[in-house]
Amino acid sequence: MENLANKLMAAAAQAAKHSYSPYSGFPVGAAVLTAGGKVFCGTNVENASYGATMCAERVAVFKAVSEGEREITAIAVYTDAAAYAFPCGMCLQVLSEFAGDIPVFVAGSSGVKHFTLGQLLPHRFEKS
Ligand code: THU
Repeated sequence: MENLANKLMAAAAQAAKHSYSPYSGFPVGAAVLTAGGKVFCGTNVENASYGATMCAERVAVFKAVSEGEREITAIAVYTDAAAYAFPCGMCLQVLSEFAGDIPVFVAGSSGVKHFTLGQLLPHRFEKS
């Protein structure tokens, strides 16, 4: 598990280098592992029309799905902030569409912490 966390976090940190975040000054990187064994990365892409901004996690998920990988088995989220920056609610909901109770690795100043999607989003929205 630690190997996986380190591998995904390294990819997420690399992706954060491409962040387009001139408005917030807050680069984020994400990396998802798929059931097919592939890693897809994403970074946040901001816009002058702030609401058009896209989070790093959703970029990574959408890249995986658009390449035919619909099953995500782990995700890492990188920021260089001291506090742990968890995926936002919208990203958790999007992730939950393509993932079960997967590991969610989050970077912070005291290292990489391991959570599960079920801990961060115990009840996803589902249309009955
Ligand atoms: N952001 C992400 O990339 N992922 C999240 O889960 C929350 C926030 C980005 C959006 C924006 O570019 C910046 O962080 C500040 O909100």
